[in-house]
Amino acid sequence: MTGALQDRVAIVTGGAQGIGRAISRCMTAAGATTVIGDIVAGDVVAGDIPATVSDAAAQFPLDVSDERSVETFVQRVVEEYGAPAILVNNAGIMTESAIADLTVEDWDRTLNVNLRGPLLMAKHVVPHMRTDDRPAIVNIGSLEGFAGNPHHAAYIASKAGLHGLTLSLAIDLGPQGIRANAIAPGWIDTDLNKRYLDDLPDRGEAYRQLGRIHPLGHIGDPGDVANVAVWLASDAARFVTGQIIKVEGGRTAKLPLPAVFNV
Ligand SMILES: NC(=O)c1ccc[n+]([C@@H]2O[C@H](COP(=O)([O-])OP(=O)(O)OC[C@H]3O[C@@H](n4cnc5c(N)ncnc54)[C@H](O)[C@@H]3O)[C@@H](O)[C@H]2O)c1
Repeated sequence: MTGALQDRVAIVTGGAQGIGRAISRCMTAAGATTVIGDIVAGDVVAGDIPATVSDAAAQFPLDVSDERSVETFVQRVVEEYGAPAILVNNAGIMTESAIADLTVEDWDRTLNVNLRGPLLMAKHVVPHMRTDDRPAIVNIGSLEGFAGNPHHAAYIASKAGLHGLTLSLAIDLGPQGIRANAIAPGWIDTDLNKRYLDDLPDRGEAYRQLGRIHPLGHIGDPGDVANVAVWLASDAARFVTGQIIKVEGGRTAKLPLPAVFNV
C-alpha cells in the first residue's frame, strides 16, 4: 500500500521485534513517519535504541504500563515529529500458570502491560490527534481473546479485555473522527511463542502438526499482521471501526476433531 500512510506520524509500541517491528517496517513503507516505543530486558533503557532494523524514524524508551513513562514518550514524539495520526498498541507479554499457582504479581504485570498499557497510550495520544489527519488506533489483541489455551488465564483475560477496550474507544472517539479497531492474530512465528517449539524434540514435526490445524496449511508471519494493520490505519478502511479482525489462517473456522480421524 505505497503512499497509503503518507505524511502521517505513527506510534508503534513494542516495535523492537516481532509483530511490532513488521508493523513499523510496513507503515514506514506505506509512507508514515514511524516512532517505536519499547522496553528492553525488563527495564526502560537509559538512552535511545538504534531504529535501523525496524525502518522507524526513531525508537524511544517506553514502558506502556507506567503512566509517567507514557506521558514522557508521547511528549517527546509530539515535540520531535509532530502530532501522531496513528497509534498501534502492540506491546504485549505472555505469562503461563495454573490457576492455583497464579501470583497476584504475574496477574497484575500481564494486565498492566496488555490492557492498562493500551488505555494509557490512548489517553495520552488522543489529545494530540487531529481529525484532519484521519486518526486511527490499531490494537493488537489475540485469538486468545476468543478461545484460549490451558494456563493462560491472565493473558486470555487481558486480550479479551483489550477487545472490549477497542469497542469502547471506537464508541467514545468516533465523534472526533478517530477510528479504533483490533487485530486478533493466531499463531505467528515470533519470539513470543518460539520457546514452545524450542522445548520440543522435533521442531519440524511441530510445524507440520501446526500446519494441519490451519486450513491454509501453515502458521503466520509478522508481515501477515502488519499488512492488515496498515490497511486498518489507512483511508481504505475509513468506514471500519469497532471491529476485531482475526488474522489466523482460518484456524478457528475449522472444528477440532479427535486425532483418530486423521484430517
Ligand atoms: N506471536 C503470536 O503468535 C501472537 C499471537 C497473538 C497475539 N500476539 C500479540 O502480538 C503482540 C506482539 O507480539 P510478538 O509475538 O511480536 O511478541 P514479542 O515478544 O516478539 O515482542 C513484544 C515486544 O513488546 C515489547 N514490550 C514488552 N513489554 C513492554 C512494555 N511494558 N512497554 C513497551 N514495550 C514492551 C518487547 O520488548 C518486545 O519488543 C503482543 O501484544 C502479543 O500478545 C502475538
